[in-house]
Amino acid sequence: MKVSPSLLSADFADLRKDIEMINASECDYLHLDVMDGVFVPNISFGFPVMKAVSKICDKPLDVHLMIVEPQKWIPQVRDLGAEIMNVHQEACLHLHSCVQQIHAAGMKAGVTLCPATPVATLTDIIEDLDLVLLMSVNPGFGGQPFIRHTLRKVEELRALRDATGSKAEIEIDGGVNLNTGRELADAGAEVLVAGSYVFGADDPKATIAALKAL
Ligand code: DX5
Ligand code: ZN
Repeated sequence: MKVSPSLLSADFADLRKDIEMINASECDYLHLDVMDGVFVPNISFGFPVMKAVSKICDKPLDVHLMIVEPQKWIPQVRDLGAEIMNVHQEACLHLHSCVQQIHAAGMKAGVTLCPATPVATLTDIIEDLDLVLLMSVNPGFGGQPFIRHTLRKVEELRALRDATGSKAEIEIDGGVNLNTGRELADAGAEVLVAGSYVFGADDPKATIAALKAL
């Protein structure tokens, strides 16, 4: 299993310590949650903070934009050196064009679905995607309980991928712990985002290793 710890639950007063933990851990990505107070009812951090983080983080960046009109910010995300740029289906009027622009900027394109958005909405774009991020909580806050119908959506997404030959990775975000992680692994998830479960643990590095082993 790939693991993408979410910086949202890190200690913002001592980010260097948490990034050093991330660098020393087995995780595959660092997940960065950007919120604008419009698309979601919260504001997290923006480009100046992510720029500082990118300078000391050795892991590929998995940027999750919970903002309206994410296509406006493609150059700024590229300038972070991000590996993956995730945009919400619900926030993009012209999703296909946005994905094309992300690719033209040299990044992998991920599309994120809120809990109420059906997998079937990706039918005509799945072949163009490098990743699909399924939200298993409503976006905006860490520490919420896992929404169980996500397990069914993971299976639906796997079936859609198999039917189309798409290579999109299946990533899940929200309420991930060892128990829900095991169920997600069985359903076919390939990347797990985990915020509060990792950064709230007594031993975050060992927690990342345990999620990796799923
Ligand atoms: C929520 C964010 C998540 C958040 C997950 O809107 O997209 O990445 O950090 O937090 P946990 O793992 O605590 O549910
Ligand atoms: Zn996220």
